[in-house]
Amino acid sequence: MKPIFLANWKMNILPAEVKEFAKNFLSQITPDANYADIGFAAPYTTLAALVDGFRGVKGILTGAQNCHWADNGAFTGEVSAKMLKDVGVNFVIIGHSERRQFFGETDETVAKRSVKALKEGLIAVVCVGETKAEYEAGRTKEIVSRQLKGSLADVTAEMTHALIIAYEPVWAIGTGLTATPEIAQSVHASIRSELTALYNANVAGAIPIIYGGSAKTDNIASLVAQPDINGGLVGGASLKPDTFAQLVQAGRQVYK
Ligand code: 13P
Repeated sequence: MKPIFLANWKMNILPAEVKEFAKNFLSQITPDANYADIGFAAPYTTLAALVDGFRGVKGILTGAQNCHWADNGAFTGEVSAKMLKDVGVNFVIIGHSERRQFFGETDETVAKRSVKALKEGLIAVVCVGETKAEYEAGRTKEIVSRQLKGSLADVTAEMTHALIIAYEPVWAIGTGLTATPEIAQSVHASIRSELTALYNANVAGAIPIIYGGSAKTDNIASLVAQPDINGGLVGGASLKPDTFAQLVQAGRQVYK
């Protein structure tokens, strides 16, 4: 599997900034035209500019950071998976820990959003990860297992061709603390066996499991060199074209 690197811009980057970002980034990186190995998730108001900025560039995915499970209706402040398809993005991040922590997202709502995104033909990047207190209590695998089972409750084996799992330990997000490659690998391996139990070994082996949490140019290669780490979901280091290009360059050397 080739590694995949997704930028999560979070609540950053204005539409007017995308063109320059894309130009600068593409002057440093040639995306793999045979395989989308790079992606950008932007705020809703930046999506049209994002799609436009990378139009015609093969190997770049464009995405949003959440979606609702209904097609439309009285859901103030929400955006549906259908609307994301309409604006032209390829993927959507679901169940990010910032949504779970600050906006009341639960495994049940993540499950509904995930299945709807997949049914609409979007790639769903479903996030799991334990808090610092859970990590310190040695509960990482228990928490991640519960989140996975709950979040994928209605995702069938057939739908998993468009599924990506992101493991993001909450204590590593934006803190400069990265899980060591060994710690991350051990959790990724347990995610893989959880997926094997939910589906089967063939299906589980084909689902990319990417790591997020202070991923940087100088740690990405050792992370993706691990057998079950298939790429990165990158926050802070994705906000500048130079730093993200360097990270992708460092990480994509590793093929498995
Ligand atoms: P940082 O890379 O800023 O730690 O953020 C990780 C993240 O939350 C990506 O979704």
